[in-house]
Amino acid sequence: MKALTDGPLPQWLHDGHRHVWQPYTQHQTAPLPAPVVASKGTRIQLADGRWLIDGVASWWTAVHGHAHPHLLGAVHRQLDTLPHVMFGSVAHAPASTLARRLAQLLPGDLNHVFFAESGSVSVEVAMKMAVQFHLNRGQRRTRFLGFHHGYHGDTLATMSVCDPDRSMHAHFAGFLPEQLHTALPTDAGSLAALEQLLAEHHTSLAAVMVEPLIQGAGGFRMHTADTLRHLRRLCDQYERSWDATRGRDHRHRGGRGLGSGTSHPAGSRGMAGPGQAGPSRDPFGWVAAGGCRALAGGG
Ligand SMILES: Cc1ncc(COP(=O)(O)O)c(C=O)c1O
Repeated sequence: MKALTDGPLPQWLHDGHRHVWQPYTQHQTAPLPAPVVASKGTRIQLADGRWLIDGVASWWTAVHGHAHPHLLGAVHRQLDTLPHVMFGSVAHAPASTLARRLAQLLPGDLNHVFFAESGSVSVEVAMKMAVQFHLNRGQRRTRFLGFHHGYHGDTLATMSVCDPDRSMHAHFAGFLPEQLHTALPTDAGSLAALEQLLAEHHTSLAAVMVEPLIQGAGGFRMHTADTLRHLRRLCDQYERSWDATRGRDHRHRGGRGLGSGTSHPAGSRGMAGPGQAGPSRDPFGWVAAGGCRALAGGG
């Protein structure tokens, strides 16, 4: 079978490649990337005319297929009228409408949307919100709890909550903020270990970080519903005990402080419904723009 870079390659690939750093690539050893010139539906086209099935939907961003006519029409209309203005102290209909629609889709009290430009940034924003939430209540809580095999992004704070030993971020140990990590509560032993860790450290923890439904980068490991319920229960338990010491009514808070923050670029959510294993903040990205441009949000 013909390899992706067999045959004559376009000049722009040779000219430009020596000036480009591609993600997750060791340029000393990696082969030339495949030159892509077009995309449509489930396929992408190479410079030599061949069409390939994009089996990963361009890292799961093209959830509606490439170049979807409905999305392209909306993007064209938007570019003609209002390509971009800041979102500080001004508002515009597309963002307001999107926020309202997303809030309607999200469960429980996830009813506010903060827009960011990538999955990593949306997770960073959620982490800052968690720290700020405690600061507003007079507590300095600056650490996070992450799980073995977890992955939450490539910016510094998100790297710090990824698995510190089994991830590509292990090289950056010593440079990243130090967080707590443990196994997901999948059996009695790991549940007891998590309970112990939370009992010892909950007063310094701003939030618990978990990917919803599945740890993707960590090996496509599905969570069970029980794992997520345990997390929600423990987060609620420590949040209640904190509230009790301050004599505050748990129901009257603006948000859940030690909530299980979640992150997923495809926006999949494993946990839903009041009283079930839902997250307090839910960053999601990629899918929000249907593969047309970078966009992420969080409820
Ligand atoms: C669970 C999870 N969180 C965060 C991210 C980071 O998203 P982005 O690549 O848009 O920064 C990813 C990316 O794969 C992810 O899988």
